[in-house]
Amino acid sequence: MTVPLLVARGLTRRYSMKRGMFSNPTTVTAVDGLDLFLEQGRTLGLVGESGCGKSTTGRMVLGMETPDAGSIAFAGKPMPRPGSAEWRSLRARMQMVFQDPLGALDRRLTIGQQVAEPLVIHGIGTRADRPDRVAALLTQAGLRPDQGARYPHELSGGQRQRAVLARALASGPELLVCDEPISALDVSIQAQVMNLLTETQARLGLTMLFISHDLRAVRQVSHRVAVMYLGKIVEEGPPDAVLHDPAHPYAQALVSAIPGQKNVRRIRLQGDPPNPADRPRGCAFHPRCPLAGPVCRQLVPELKPRPGDGRMVACHVAQGEISPSFQRAA
Ligand SMILES: Nc1ncnc2c1ncn2[C@@H]1O[C@H](COP(=O)(O)OP(=O)(O)OP(=O)(O)O)[C@@H](O)[C@H]1O
Ligand SMILES: [Mg+2]
Repeated sequence: MTVPLLVARGLTRRYSMKRGMFSNPTTVTAVDGLDLFLEQGRTLGLVGESGCGKSTTGRMVLGMETPDAGSIAFAGKPMPRPGSAEWRSLRARMQMVFQDPLGALDRRLTIGQQVAEPLVIHGIGTRADRPDRVAALLTQAGLRPDQGARYPHELSGGQRQRAVLARALASGPELLVCDEPISALDVSIQAQVMNLLTETQARLGLTMLFISHDLRAVRQVSHRVAVMYLGKIVEEGPPDAVLHDPAHPYAQALVSAIPGQKNVRRIRLQGDPPNPADRPRGCAFHPRCPLAGPVCRQLVPELKPRPGDGRMVACHVAQGEISPSFQRAA
């Protein structure tokens, strides 16, 4: 049976932006009524092109950003107001690993001091046992305890990301949000950090939201995969289904672009990249969709289960509501 650790309903985040001194502000809808279900002890991979709202979703999940609409429940209870005492104590149970480990670390403090910080903040253990705890956390993240005496600039990029993971694990979190955790790393060490994340997730039974452009990395870590397009999830399901036999035309294009695949024809999308400040009517993907027809230009497709293969799809055609031939004829 699947047990949810975090359930989000209708998450929406809008940003107001002013382009020039005299122009009126435009509204960007970064996340648009998104539903998310994070199963306890499992990893959900979140993929989609740049600007589709992945990081905004990750920040809302952790309460680092307040949604304009929608709700989040963590461990069966509504997420407390960000910044409140209740939220701060909940923060020990949810942590984030960012893309840029150097930016995430304080250059003036040693790695050991930074790994110890969450222990102090959340009152974990005693002062006397702190060095042992820090050493164990560093070892768990694949660093040597003596590397705790170093400063961030004295470590390699991969070692710094390990230090960030050690610090994220210090408070004993249940939920880890990883936002592009390997994309700033050298290709040669990406695989090591991926293996570390996969092993750590399994060993500690963590619930993970893994955000990445790299579909191969997502396939390696995820128990389920969600594909996002312009602030919405358009397909969600087991990696075998979504990444090997995608149903949504956008997911098909994304998967066809994975390099090094044999016998897969690359689908090149037509039309302009999406603009979250000017969302098309109906299905947001319709201006670039090879199957789009009149219905797609009018009606927003709902994310609905597709019978038989355990996935959810938001596409009138993939749901079988209208046939591609009807679309073409209309
Ligand atoms: N603080 C902000 N102010 C204004 N607009 C923002 C802000 N943060 C994000 N956006 C806009 O919201 C949209 C979604 O941004 P987000 O960072 O969530 O995308 P993303 O999927 O993480 O992209 P990437 O893959 O490039 O990291 C983008 O159009 C972005 O420009
Ligand atoms: Mg991002």
